Amino acid sequence: MKRTKISDIFHTAPGTEVSVMGWVRTRRGNKYVQFVALNDGSTIRNLQIVFDMNVFTDEVLKPVTTGSSIHVTGTLVESQGKGQTVEVQAKTLEVFGTADPAEYPLQKKGHSLEFLREHAHLRPRTNTFGAILRVRSALAFAIHKFFQEKGFYYFHSPLITTSDCEGAGAMFQVTTLPVNNPPRNEDGSVDYSKDFFGNTTALTVSGQLEGELGATALGAIYTFGPTFRAENSNTPRHLAEFWMIEPEMAFYDITDNMDLAEEFVKYCIRYALDHCREDIEFLSEHFDKDLIKRLEFVLNNDFVRLTYTEGIKILEESGRKFEFPVSWGVDLQSEHERYLVEEHFRKPVILTDYPKEIKSFYMKQNEDGKTVRAMDVLFPNIGEIIGGSEREENYDKLLTRIKELDIPMKDMWWYLDTRKFGTVPHSGFGLGFERLVLFVTGMTNIRDVIPFPRTPNNAQF
Ligand code: 4AD
Ligand code: MG
Repeated sequence: MKRTKISDIFHTAPGTEVSVMGWVRTRRGNKYVQFVALNDGSTIRNLQIVFDMNVFTDEVLKPVTTGSSIHVTGTLVESQGKGQTVEVQAKTLEVFGTADPAEYPLQKKGHSLEFLREHAHLRPRTNTFGAILRVRSALAFAIHKFFQEKGFYYFHSPLITTSDCEGAGAMFQVTTLPVNNPPRNEDGSVDYSKDFFGNTTALTVSGQLEGELGATALGAIYTFGPTFRAENSNTPRHLAEFWMIEPEMAFYDITDNMDLAEEFVKYCIRYALDHCREDIEFLSEHFDKDLIKRLEFVLNNDFVRLTYTEGIKILEESGRKFEFPVSWGVDLQSEHERYLVEEHFRKPVILTDYPKEIKSFYMKQNEDGKTVRAMDVLFPNIGEIIGGSEREENYDKLLTRIKELDIPMKDMWWYLDTRKFGTVPHSGFGLGFERLVLFVTGMTNIRDVIPFPRTPNNAQF
């Protein structure tokens, strides 16, 4: 008999003979009847398997403990019990693998998230992580669907690069040289000409610069891949390895860019609500009662758009004592962003036109000589979820900025060529995928929305 996934069982007619496979969540009962809650990862809902103890023996059911994997055939029947519509009256049982109760770590319900982080290899088997990972998968699909339907091309930027797009200098070096005894130049410095690529290389912090090459050829592209930042930020919003989506569009100005960003995140949230309703309801019930209300709220409201300068004014006039004092020119901290979003406007905010000193070299310079055409999308509970800008398309202005910031020119010649040959106005942004998953699942720590988080002092599993 062909196996039926548990997600399909709930759409199968009672009376059907079925074959199901999965992992045992719990077993309970008495000497007449035993109930097993079975989960196969296809849905948050467990399937109840009923073992009539006139047919089965204690001995046969003994290995059926929490965490064990089994195959059951039987008849699907309407359920008498509450909490489920159907159940399986078992006829045959095959045990694939046991899970010794003395050793299997996920015995009881309601393990803390901290405990589960230490058991990240098994946590996908919990209800919580099953739900989160299904939402994560759906969101990844929604992202491709959104851009593909809009005629954007999926563009693959390299993971190993020689350029530091964000200029933060927080890169993971890639080398095959022996770290203890590398070849050296006469002056004692490491001779990277002997390295694998004949040059210093690192893992990418952003696919944007290469994405701009794609956009100025294909018109509109998006990247979607892992990015790496060696910044020592031990916060609930930062990972050393995270996934980023970076659309880049020729002929888009900052307003087109903001419109796209707003449409895009709303599309993703709507998709998750439509396709992962049960998972989101489960997460809402267990972690964040306001989750669905908050998601609906974001969908039903226009994002507020204002300049950095206006934002600073609001913060200064708020009368609020911030840990980091605000004045024009400072980089906004999470507390400032959250004040604007959660207390002042109570809506997502797109902040634009930041001082050029606190933003990247590639952003389009405004007439005022002080600000650049940057845009950050700020979300409730998250802070910055998207960072982007219109790009400086003028060769001379870009070159001047590169020189001012002392960015090594020899590394940038290929990027400057986009401005030298057929330059066009263009824009783009980057969405931190895990921050979107955080928002949609209502979780509060970014380590809980990626299967295997990489953070300072932690690259286990
Ligand atoms: O603001 P960022 O640094 O912008 C860029 O990298 C641009 N090149 C994007 C572009 O214009 N194409 O990063 C973009 C987003 C942030 O808004 C945030 O959501 C996320 O990436 N992000 C991180 N997410 C998790 N962990 C980190 N360490 C992150 N750093 C940035
Ligand atoms: Mg940013």
